[in-house]
Amino acid sequence: MRILVTEPLPGKGIDLLSSRYDTTVGERGEFDGEEHLKNEIGSYDALLSCLSNPVTADVLRSAPQLRIVSNYAVGYNNIDIETARELGILVANTPDVLTEATADCAFALLLSVARRLREAEDHLRAGKFDGWHPFGFLGTELHGKKAGILGMGRIGRAFARRARGFGMTVLYHNRNRLDTKTETSLQAQYVESIDQLAEQSDVLSLHCPLNDETRHAVNSERLGRMKPDAIVINTSRGPVIDESALADALHQKQIGGAGLDVFEEEPRVHPSLADAPNCVLLPHIGSATGQTRARMSALAASSIISHLEGKPDHAIPSLVFHR
Ligand code: GLV
Ligand code: GLV
Repeated sequence: MRILVTEPLPGKGIDLLSSRYDTTVGERGEFDGEEHLKNEIGSYDALLSCLSNPVTADVLRSAPQLRIVSNYAVGYNNIDIETARELGILVANTPDVLTEATADCAFALLLSVARRLREAEDHLRAGKFDGWHPFGFLGTELHGKKAGILGMGRIGRAFARRARGFGMTVLYHNRNRLDTKTETSLQAQYVESIDQLAEQSDVLSLHCPLNDETRHAVNSERLGRMKPDAIVINTSRGPVIDESALADALHQKQIGGAGLDVFEEEPRVHPSLADAPNCVLLPHIGSATGQTRARMSALAASSIISHLEGKPDHAIPSLVFHR
């Protein structure tokens, strides 16, 4: 069996694979282009991909031996799922293990924006701190505010628990409403539409997958419905927000601020976001803790091993769909 791991990863995942199979590890960023992946994939039985690797229909069709793609990410919008299904190629991802780390990152962004931490720190580091100031960096507090969550999966729920801990009220919208027991335990109120969520939330945090329904869910029309001091947080996928509309809303002070860990065309950051007021920008580090990244690599490798060892689909640690 031949395995392609597109680039070096933390944790034991690669060792787990290379102790069993003929395993090739690409270089950092080597497979971020479709052409190269397409040209190389032909002789492999399994692919351990990263979210930056375009596993398109063309790539999948160039891989006659490929049996499974295991993505080193919970999001799998970089993979053409329809084509994989059609070709009988399984797709795995890394849910659960990164939930708390990602929710922490979203909350860290929220606190940074609400309390203007980036601006305040820049001020200090620029040598401008001249003592306590009654008007210095007045932010906004979270206590008593409404946290609106779009996408109430594992990460959305973990964000909801944090929001409750900070004394916030939780509203959410999800494709499917949660059962009453889960809603009660999270003390979360369902709202019928994204429009309502935009109108009512003081903080709108995005935790949905990227698909045709969620692409540009935050657009100029919805930004226009938001409260003038509302904060938008995105740790999901960049294209859930229309970046140029968000940049305009920030520049025009139509909303209060934004914290972004993901971008529409990574690694490019929309130039007008980079100089927008009260905007904290991170280089896609939502799941970036040592513990989480190690668990992700072990999980991604385990799904490949289970499948190649002939386990039935239900016994594979994480599959995106069952055949
Ligand atoms: C990171 O963005 C992931 O989907 O795991
Ligand atoms: C997936 O994104 C999740 O919320 O676990």
